[in-house]
Amino acid sequence: MIENILVVGCGAMGSQIAMVGALAGYRATAYDLDPAALDRAAAALRARLDRDVARGRRTRSDVDAAFDRLGFTTDLDTAAATADVVIEAAAEDLDVKRQVFARLDAIAPAHAILATNSSAIVSSQLAGATTRPDRVCNLHFFNPALVMRCVEVVGGPHTSPATVDAVVDLARRLGKEPVVLRREIPGFVANRILNAVRDEAIFLLEEGVASVEAIDTACRAALGYPMGPFELMDLTGVDIGYHAKLARYAASNDPRDLPSRTVTELVARGDLGRKTGAGFYNYDDRGDRHVH
Ligand code: 3HC
Repeated sequence: MIENILVVGCGAMGSQIAMVGALAGYRATAYDLDPAALDRAAAALRARLDRDVARGRRTRSDVDAAFDRLGFTTDLDTAAATADVVIEAAAEDLDVKRQVFARLDAIAPAHAILATNSSAIVSSQLAGATTRPDRVCNLHFFNPALVMRCVEVVGGPHTSPATVDAVVDLARRLGKEPVVLRREIPGFVANRILNAVRDEAIFLLEEGVASVEAIDTACRAALGYPMGPFELMDLTGVDIGYHAKLARYAASNDPRDLPSRTVTELVARGDLGRKTGAGFYNYDDRGDRHVH
């Protein structure tokens, strides 16, 4: 039975995943190497959930109880020792993830499931770093994880059906709608479709056909998307898409998988989207968007 969830990596995704667990009644721990990342995450989650209370979306007592179940730590050994499921949401770097999985394998209980939130790195690339490949899989959340209902559950040939079933059950208990893939493919379903839209949006921009705002408006007003592809890249982080593309290129060697010129330039400038105050748009201190 799953009682304790450990999330490794306390960035925007990891912190919200841990909060989703705590809100659903699990004991959740968010681990990060960097204490400042934990402080930032705790403050952002407080502000986010206070807003939910103020708007009548959640009760104060539910939110307080969830925070009582949520811990933040820089001590991985202690946190992993009692984990039933670990969800890794660290940097999208294969070597880093393999090291994390090897370490988790050594310190987490034998029954614990080790899942990665990655959609670019499939768990076949990580399972071999552990002695429990049958309990290794992908559990992929979407940004913002507190809001988006879908999660993708992806096992590889090494993953046991019992692990997939347990993770699907967990996803439902977290209030999410699990989509189970029949086999591994980098990007999974939603990001592959999203990528095709993004690639076309960037093509239209780089060809000078329309502006960033015009393309976003078309997606919202003509296609009913909640936000356009450029707004979304700024929300999820321009660097995240950039690294996902590089990972895809490393696997495929297909130049069409390389990051676009525009995205490469933004990453080189450090304009990574909302989190740095600039990306395809500029953002003021209140998070309001302005056209460049
Ligand atoms: N974190 C947590 N909650 C957030 C949030 C964030 N960053 N942004 C918005 N919300 C929640 C808040 O509760 C907010 O209400 P509030 O403003 O009163 O606090 C509520 O959503 C509504 O937000 P807004 O009124 O500002 O805007 P929207 O109505 O457009 O909703 C959205 C925001 C839910 C993010 C919506 O625009 C949306 O669904 N956008 C598409 C997101 C998407 O496609 N995500 C998938 C990305 S791909 C991915 O994640 C894959 C990974 O591998 C990178």
